[in-house]
Amino acid sequence: MEILIPISAACFLAGLTAYVVILAFRELTSTRLASATATVEHAFLREQVSELAERRQREQQKSERTWDGFRKFFVARKVPETSDVTSFYLEPHDKAPLPSFNPGQYLTFRLNIPGQPKPAIRCYSLSDAPKPEYFRVSIKRQGSPPNKPDAPPGLGSCYFHDQLDEGDIIDVRAPAGQFFIDPREETPAVLIGGGIGLTPMMSMVNAIVEANPQREVWFFYGLRHGGEHVMGDHLRRIAADNPSIQLNVCYSAPRANVDRQGEHYTHGEQISIDLFKRLMPQNAALAHFFLCGPPPMMQALVDGLLGWGVEVGRIHYEAFGPASVKSAGPKPEAKAGVAYEVAFSRSEKKIVWDGKSTLLELAEANGVRIDFGCRAGNCGTCITAIKQGNVDYPTKPGGAVEAGSCLACVAIPASNMVLDG
Ligand SMILES: Cc1cc2nc3c(=O)[nH]c(=O)nc-3n(C[C@H](O)[C@H](O)[C@H](O)COP(=O)(O)OP(=O)(O)OC[C@H]3O[C@@H](n4cnc5c(N)ncnc54)[C@H](O)[C@@H]3O)c2cc1C
Ligand code: FES
Repeated sequence: MEILIPISAACFLAGLTAYVVILAFRELTSTRLASATATVEHAFLREQVSELAERRQREQQKSERTWDGFRKFFVARKVPETSDVTSFYLEPHDKAPLPSFNPGQYLTFRLNIPGQPKPAIRCYSLSDAPKPEYFRVSIKRQGSPPNKPDAPPGLGSCYFHDQLDEGDIIDVRAPAGQFFIDPREETPAVLIGGGIGLTPMMSMVNAIVEANPQREVWFFYGLRHGGEHVMGDHLRRIAADNPSIQLNVCYSAPRANVDRQGEHYTHGEQISIDLFKRLMPQNAALAHFFLCGPPPMMQALVDGLLGWGVEVGRIHYEAFGPASVKSAGPKPEAKAGVAYEVAFSRSEKKIVWDGKSTLLELAEANGVRIDFGCRAGNCGTCITAIKQGNVDYPTKPGGAVEAGSCLACVAIPASNMVLDG
């Protein structure tokens, strides 16, 4: 793990010193001038100095204090949010400063779970605005699927909930991901979180409140009932303090005599395009939409927004599981009738592509082992070297992919190929 040393700190300090000297000079001369004009100039200059200092600090933190590979963090606090969701506040074990990140990004964890033959790789979105002292993730315990009660419960999420305690050390990759917002922009933002998909939206809304509280934000949080409601008090407080934030909490199955409309939730229905049309102004299609939630909800909303006339470039979404939302962007060329051959050189296997599987699915179905973590193009675990040929990405990967390689979990062949697998 390598910490990158700030390189422009000296320039920044020199610049700041120059400004302070100018300020001091102004201070001296102003005693002589003692005019209202000088006071106004002072205030303006001070504002500029502080703005410049803030901007420089933000840029420095973002670009220069990141790290390669895994870095050790310890669990500083473990805070239950509901019976199934717990927040983990993580501080760097080396005590070096934390980088800033783009609200909406996630952390990748390497979990050494007792009894497991190899570390498990899992991604969790940052659920708070960037803070210099900690990262926060909020994790939902994944039980066995309702239709498979005998299947083992979620490995990574249960490890966090049941085995990781305050003070424990954990391996973490630097924040990453293409799903994020610039909180300082002025364009209205529509933030839509379904279930645990709330987490990146919390990071976004908290960052907007800190950086640009005047920005128009339409916040939609969809869940079944109050027993699943995460960070409700916090959301109600920021909506009360910031009139530009319109909070809409949608319970699809409110509990009788427990959940009260107006107090706990705003709408007794699912989030839908219909609801947007009823609530938002005519020109809402000019906003930027950010979605994270269960794949069926996201698919319905992405299709509905396109149908409503929202441009593709204004719709941003992230899947927490296997990448199952069909891309809203330009589709790769039709593959009907193609029969690309995919060769895995080390396993000495040649397979004819079925026209729909990802390279990871193709490998798995034919006994070729490729390690994976998120299966959504985010964590980088499935990276596979391409010896010959090209790939397409029907779902855009979460980060840049190094030249000559592909993320097998989201890649499909675009020609005959030879892979190092
Ligand atoms: C970019 C990104 C951000 C994310 N952010 C968050 C976040 O903020 N908060 C959050 O809670 N999650 C988040 N996730 C999801 C998270 O990464 C994990 O996918 C999730 O916690 C489940 O992992 P797990 O190890 O607990 O479950 P897994 O062990 O991967 O199991 C998943 C499910 O499969 C079931 N299962 C296991 N074995 C079998 C079997 N043999 N047969 C049938 N079913 C089986 C399990 O019971 C479980 O329900 C994010 C994912 C991504 C990609
Ligand atoms: S498994 Fe995470 S990027 Fe492919």
